[in-house]
Amino acid sequence: MSLRLDIVSIFPEYLDVLGLSLVGKAIRSGLVDIAVHDLRQWTHDRHRTVDDTPYGGGAGMVMRPEPWGEALDALIPEGAAPTLIVPTPSGQPFTQQLAADLAQESHLIFACGRYEGIDARVIDHAATRVPVTEVSLGDYVLNGGEVAALVITEAVVRLLPGVLGNPESLAEESHSGELEHLLEYPVFTKPARWRGLEVPEVLLSGNHALIAAWRRDQALARTRERRPDLLSE
Ligand code: ADE
Repeated sequence: MSLRLDIVSIFPEYLDVLGLSLVGKAIRSGLVDIAVHDLRQWTHDRHRTVDDTPYGGGAGMVMRPEPWGEALDALIPEGAAPTLIVPTPSGQPFTQQLAADLAQESHLIFACGRYEGIDARVIDHAATRVPVTEVSLGDYVLNGGEVAALVITEAVVRLLPGVLGNPESLAEESHSGELEHLLEYPVFTKPARWRGLEVPEVLLSGNHALIAAWRRDQALARTRERRPDLLSE
């Protein structure tokens, strides 16, 4: 089963990089099918307007509901319920767990907003038809949802069976189950001495139990230092 992604944006070129690297390869192998849509194709005025001033006043512009409504009418298939993902700084935090959940789905639609956001009725109305998840990458503000859609797509697509050359690399990395949600331990490659810096001796020992214990210690120490919030969960 392959994954279908529809991404709606007023800057479709922003998503061009999806043709590169691992995601591009997954597209060419038929593991994921990605369509990027210009929101303005669902406008009808001469200026192809997608925004207007906010009711209640305030700075900035709000995305008008009509083009979004038509876009979702066109992209939500009859009798199916794709998940609608709306990147926004006021969404739920994006996590590896959410990436894993989304990788189980067969159809995701991304609504990339710009300006001060999309008229809230679009999300309320969509939620009467399909599951809607508003997702935030973190506690900072981007100019729009496109970069977030790229991040979420990359995190999800690499979890699809057949996308990674070596599926074992999924098991050991940061935030995955095997290392108990610790940050990843530091890694080294040849040469064993570089600019006066040595690779930790244990890694050259060939003793797999010792190496595993050292890596776990390192992961724990890093997590304690950088992300103590992960240990108190
Ligand atoms: N759009 C603007 N800022 C964002 C953020 N932090 N996460 C997701 N989408 C966004």
